[in-house]
Amino acid sequence: MTSTATAHPNIALAKYWGKRDDALIIPATGSLSLTLDVFPTTTSVTVSDDAADAVELDGAALAGEESNRVRSVLDRVRELSGRTEKARVVSVNTVPTAAGLASSAAAFAALATAAADAFGLSADDRMLSRIARRGSGSASRSIFRGVARWNAGTDDESSYAEPLAWHGPALAMVVAIVSSKRKAVSSRTAMRRTVETSPYFAAWVASSATLLEQMSDAVAAGDLETVGELTEQSALRMHASMFGAVPPVRYLSAASLALFDTVLNLRSDGIEAYATADAGPNVKVLCRSDQAAEVVAGLSAVIPDADYVVAHAGPGAHIVDGVGA
Ligand code: ADP
Ligand code: DP6
Ligand code: CO
Repeated sequence: MTSTATAHPNIALAKYWGKRDDALIIPATGSLSLTLDVFPTTTSVTVSDDAADAVELDGAALAGEESNRVRSVLDRVRELSGRTEKARVVSVNTVPTAAGLASSAAAFAALATAAADAFGLSADDRMLSRIARRGSGSASRSIFRGVARWNAGTDDESSYAEPLAWHGPALAMVVAIVSSKRKAVSSRTAMRRTVETSPYFAAWVASSATLLEQMSDAVAAGDLETVGELTEQSALRMHASMFGAVPPVRYLSAASLALFDTVLNLRSDGIEAYATADAGPNVKVLCRSDQAAEVVAGLSAVIPDADYVVAHAGPGAHIVDGVGA
């Protein structure tokens, strides 16, 4: 039995950074994101008679910690479905892997969706969000289309994402790719180091709770200006918390900061554009869909070496083949 699912990366507007439970991936803060319509991951899961799970990403076998992450999702699906067979997992990313472009979000949302289907587990989106969370926290949000909020929760049951309605102007996310290289330190390691060593982590957690509520209210009101200003605050506060870690974690490069500056200049020229960046140097700019071309023009005039991709709100994870097709 093989099932195939596809899912897209999501970019957090209110960031998740830090876990209160490393094993279950219960976050220290709630978060809010936009699922994109670019860079899908497609993953097939085949239930097998093999003695062990096998995982292939872009044609190469995964081992060690990378295959353990996949196994934690498969184990949860086996636990919930009461089955014990192993699985063969074959996945293809179209986004650069481990470059701060949310490959883990697309990956584990697709894996959870395909694995539940392959093992005959009838799971609603909330359950899929919890299962995807076991592989990568941000994946809990890629189960859903468009804007989603991951409620931090306090245990497996209460920590899941859900979709939020957006009735404001049609959104775009301009993705400025300054480097597709693998990050030197994974999100997981950097997050743990921030929790354990940064004196700013407590302030990050405390301020995130307020920011998430303000952003949720602004989403409900369709207020792009407030969502955008809070998006920049959340990103810069998250990076500030990492700067305080020992040894410090710094994902932002000179090009990233030049992009942030350019977005500020675009705003003073009347373009509604707001910058964010994740665990990597690439910058994403939230804007109105009808101003995306102007944003690309403004950014590429200053940083011509980057690749620019215009994304919009994309679909949630879904089966493209298999028993649920
Ligand atoms: P990113 O910024 O791309 O999300 P992370 O450090 O969060 O970077 O996650 C990268 C890791 O996610 C990879 O090293 C790998 O373990 C896992 N990953 C990414 N894509 C896939 C995939 N399609 N299937 C399985 N694991 C994946
Ligand atoms: C900066 O979800 O990749 O992108 O849960 O350890 O897999 P793990 O980390 P991950 O972290 C994402 C961090 C972020 C912000 C966000 O997406 O909210
Ligand atoms: Co990730």
